[in-house]
Amino acid sequence: MKLTLDGVGHAFLGRAVFENIDLSLAEGEVVALIGPSGCGKTTLLQIAAGLLEPLRGRVRRAYRRHAVVFQEPRLLPWMTARDNIAYGLRAAGSGKRSQAETAERRAAEVGLQAGDLDKYPAELSGGMRQRTAVARAFAVDPDVVFFDEPFTAVDVGLKRTLQNLVIEAAARDHFSALFVTHDLSEAVRVAHRLVVLSNRTRGIVANRVIAGTPGTRRDRMIFETIEGWSRDPVFCELFDNERQHAL
Ligand SMILES: Nc1ncnc2c1ncn2[C@@H]1O[C@H](COP(=O)(O)OP(=O)(O)OP(=O)(O)O)[C@@H](O)[C@H]1O
Ligand SMILES: [Mg+2]
Repeated sequence: MKLTLDGVGHAFLGRAVFENIDLSLAEGEVVALIGPSGCGKTTLLQIAAGLLEPLRGRVRRAYRRHAVVFQEPRLLPWMTARDNIAYGLRAAGSGKRSQAETAERRAAEVGLQAGDLDKYPAELSGGMRQRTAVARAFAVDPDVVFFDEPFTAVDVGLKRTLQNLVIEAAARDHFSALFVTHDLSEAVRVAHRLVVLSNRTRGIVANRVIAGTPGTRRDRMIFETIEGWSRDPVFCELFDNERQHAL
């Protein structure tokens, strides 16, 4: 296992968010973490990534490097797209020339044009900024990538393109990933396994291996999988949530 959470619990100001979470990521495995707003997905991701110390339980990491992609791109505004992508490489101490080469290769992989690389974040579109953030994460050759609703703010067409980039990169580079999302169809597209976190029980209510391999599932299969789950009680909080959004 690349990452193991063992009996992890957390609370803010004495209010429990979740208790007794056991979760692991195998090598090359993409796990989607889904659950209603406020159930603690971001908190759990931050604990898994070492950005937050859990109150209870332990986290074991068996990898060298990880990267995080947040919902907002979090680029440094005074740096060009190229320098933002290369940022983690500078910290790792690689040479200037190899930094630039890696940044350009990673930029091309996420569909950025050469001309975009000299632009500053303010000169990029929202979609281009998020591509830059994904390229910056992949540039460090991570063994594990943490995604916190990375594509929630982008439009539907681009969302699919960015999901495909993640699927291709995971298959090519064999990183493991924890992918937080609100979107069940996104989860079923990108992940090998789905973990559902509940507000009511403050824990994991479902842990399902998704049939097939990311990137090879047809839209119909994705639709039917979600259709099937919509009748399953462990998913009801998610669907309640969606119904509320629809109203
Ligand atoms: N720094 C903090 N201080 C106090 N409470 C916090 C803090 N961060 C999160 N919380 C609380 O912990 C709970 C879980 O928050 P978290 O952000 O992990 O939820 P989430 O599942 O990621 O929600 P969303 O889907 O809306 O992003 C919420 O009740 C939130 O108000
Ligand atoms: Mg969140």
